[in-house]
Amino acid sequence: MTTKRLPTGLTEVQAVYSGPEGNLWELIMGEQIHIGGFQQSMVLAEKAGIKAGETVVDFCCCLGAGVRFLAKNFKTKGIGVDGTAHVIEEAKKRATAEGVSAEFHLSDVTKVPLADGIADVVWGEDAWCYVDDKNKLISEAARVLKKGGRIAFSDWIEGPKGLSDAEADRINGFMKFPYMECLDGYKKLLVANGFKIISAEDEGPHFAECIQLYLDMLTKQLTYDALKIIGDNMEMMGAMGGEMVNMLEMAKAGKFSRGRFVAVKE
Ligand SMILES: C[S@@+](CC[C@H](N)C(=O)[O-])C[C@H]1O[C@@H](n2cnc3c(N)ncnc32)[C@H](O)[C@@H]1O
Repeated sequence: MTTKRLPTGLTEVQAVYSGPEGNLWELIMGEQIHIGGFQQSMVLAEKAGIKAGETVVDFCCCLGAGVRFLAKNFKTKGIGVDGTAHVIEEAKKRATAEGVSAEFHLSDVTKVPLADGIADVVWGEDAWCYVDDKNKLISEAARVLKKGGRIAFSDWIEGPKGLSDAEADRINGFMKFPYMECLDGYKKLLVANGFKIISAEDEGPHFAECIQLYLDMLTKQLTYDALKIIGDNMEMMGAMGGEMVNMLEMAKAGKFSRGRFVAVKE
């Protein structure tokens, strides 16, 4: 696994999710800005055994769609935490508009403003790849969870075939990730923070299928809409397409993937 890290932090991420790049992700992925949308949230929720009345904290909740998904489908009490002011404002507005009662906090997920032991579940979907100190993130999850509580998350990871430094730099640079964990790296972080692993799965083939889907949406259906978001900049559109094709090739080669994890705080 590559150990190289890029000096990318929350400031760069805030710029993405306060502007055109974030809007572009919403255009092609929908309000749930993660691979597989509703269907993949359902898989994660079932694997985590989410039950009515449980308090679920979504770390990196973005527009709060995960909190709303869980409240509507599992009758959970939702708390969202995200480090970008724009998405927290949107999350509050959209929850109110959909009649979902939830709490949202503007905060870095490595310093969560919640008391110890308040949560049944810490939830995360395709976002922790933006966080440099993943050990601190997982230790914050452990802190806010009750004993016996679960951590359930998916994330973009380095695939089983591994990335060279140059390959990692290209994906991380485009995506504004400091680095990506791998399946074993996350397992080690979970165990080191007092979790017992229930499942840790590599979702490579499905990940590649979805990247192909986004490329198809951009080239076969939503080209006008995407161009409008980026100021009709054809050159930028071409460059972004090239980066997505590269990510597709890396995913097909097993070098770049998505993992799904469920673990219990012991
Ligand atoms: C891909 S979006 C998350 C999508 C969301 N989980 C969903 O399924 O709809 C990534 C989010 O991570 C947030 N983020 C990245 N780094 C963060 C950090 N260190 N602390 C808090 N939020 C962070 C960004 O602000 C952004 O809203």
